[in-house]
Amino acid sequence: MDTRLFVLKEFKNTGHILGLDEGMIQEAAGVISAGGLVVFPTETVYGLGGDALNRESALKIYHAKGRPSDNPLIVHISDLASLGDLVCAISDTARTLMDSFWPGPMTLIFKKSSLIPYETTGGLDTVAIRFPVHPVARMLIDMAGVPIAAPSANLSGHPSTTTAEHCVDDLWGRVDVILDGGACEIGLESSIIDVSGVSPVILRPGAITMEDLATQLKKPVGVDPAISGSVSKDVRPKAPGMKYRHYAPRANMVLVCSKHEKSDETSDASIEKVAGEIFALLEEVRLRFSRIAVLCSAECLSKIDAQVRELNHKMAGQKGSHIILKNMGSVTEPYRIAHDIFADLRDCDRQGVDLIIAEGYPEEGLFVAVMNRLKKAASWQIIEV
Ligand code: TXA
Ligand code: MG
Repeated sequence: MDTRLFVLKEFKNTGHILGLDEGMIQEAAGVISAGGLVVFPTETVYGLGGDALNRESALKIYHAKGRPSDNPLIVHISDLASLGDLVCAISDTARTLMDSFWPGPMTLIFKKSSLIPYETTGGLDTVAIRFPVHPVARMLIDMAGVPIAAPSANLSGHPSTTTAEHCVDDLWGRVDVILDGGACEIGLESSIIDVSGVSPVILRPGAITMEDLATQLKKPVGVDPAISGSVSKDVRPKAPGMKYRHYAPRANMVLVCSKHEKSDETSDASIEKVAGEIFALLEEVRLRFSRIAVLCSAECLSKIDAQVRELNHKMAGQKGSHIILKNMGSVTEPYRIAHDIFADLRDCDRQGVDLIIAEGYPEEGLFVAVMNRLKKAASWQIIEV
């Protein structure tokens, strides 16, 4: 299939959609309404979109992504008025969450109406709905005149895509159009909350945190067990996507975490411990891997930087690996760390890294979502110190 790349230059430079860009989005919208596939930017990650009401389009999405067809798609809308036709009922809880967080990085699961084909929902009676805030996503949905079904725009099992370049790497020749709207602002996929039952349950953590949800609902929200641990084969997770290996870089990956769970205990001392373990691990494995990347915070990096330089220097010309240090940002800026995770994992692949050692973070606020993605990328290989 021929893929066309539309670079939304005016959008990239100004953050606004001007005349020229509008024409490109109009053309892409025509592709969606004709049953084709369009990759588009959202505030979370890029999406691989098709007409959510057209079963053939849904099947094409699974095929383009190489995704098992029992893993349902998220349906994107651009106004609240279209929600009523797509779902059976909207609970008070759902309304509170919609009022608080839509448009934005939150997906809600509802009982589906008969308008939504089972191909879109992977055979489920429920449907995931998201109302994104990104102006390109919203204009595309508006112009297509239909809700857009879109999983993250990566090949199944690869890290999600947060720039159009990532989408070109994974999906060139597999979709009709790629709309380049620059880097996604958040960098992690939306928070998913199931509001189809009696009480709300978080199925995937994201930029809307558990604390944000609890504040609006005035009570703590349930969490699907698949979020915090690997799911055994006989348990069926509520979000079918949870059971697949996700975000996997080509390299082996291991996560080094502090046993302390809360940030007030994550003093300098526990970062020191994690840094010490990362360095010990580097010395232990350096003869077995040719390229090792360490993904860690600025604080952790400052503790091992000098030793790693020395190790790299010692190994130049000798048998042993080259170690790449990647500064993910300060632990005081979780938004920066979240923003770069998928790009950094992809960069490790590009640089031919064969082992990634990543620092774990205290599971609070946005770090819950960060850790969820890191654990999945590491296939749950975790060292606790
Ligand atoms: O930020 C996002 O949510 C991005 C952008 C493009 O909107 N989309 C995204 O889609 O991350 P995807 O397909 O990569 O992840 C959707 C997750 C999957 O784990 C899927 O199993 C779950 O949502 N899901 C979809 N429909 C569901 C349903 N009816 N019940 C439970 N889980 C559902
Ligand atoms: Mg995905």
